[in-house]
Amino acid sequence: MPLTTPSQPALDNLIDQAREAASRAYAPYSGFRVGAALALADGEIVTGANVENVSYGLTICAERSALVSAVSRYGPEIRILAVAVTNLHNAASPPCGACRQVLAEFAEPEAPVIFPAADGMRTLPFAELLPLAFEMKLK
Ligand code: THU
Repeated sequence: MPLTTPSQPALDNLIDQAREAASRAYAPYSGFRVGAALALADGEIVTGANVENVSYGLTICAERSALVSAVSRYGPEIRILAVAVTNLHNAASPPCGACRQVLAEFAEPEAPVIFPAADGMRTLPFAELLPLAFEMKLK
């Protein structure tokens, strides 16, 4: 079955779910609460929030939190058809570089990624968000 991009109402719902997830963030150090929602190929939605740590570098971003949750729940065959990211601060928060590389493992190249940019919500196909993702192909 071909993987199709979710409809606009489904994407709007994905943004709402990401916002709801942001309210569950654990961000006592930065105070910046982020939520992410992933739309999977079988129609499931999985959300995540950033979870900070007193040893700052161990913090996990909302996007990776959602991804780890999705694989843990539905297994390694998941495909991501859309991603929504939000924060509770009316601030820009495009997915960081580390999260883009981690999402690349499971995201369809054409999957829309919706995120708050400096000039409002922005949508880009995943392949444009992370061109030239690292791949390992041994010869
Ligand atoms: N953060 C995310 O959750 N996603 C990103 O893509 C970038 C940053 C979180 C990590 C940290 O808890 C807070 O935002 C401030 O950097």
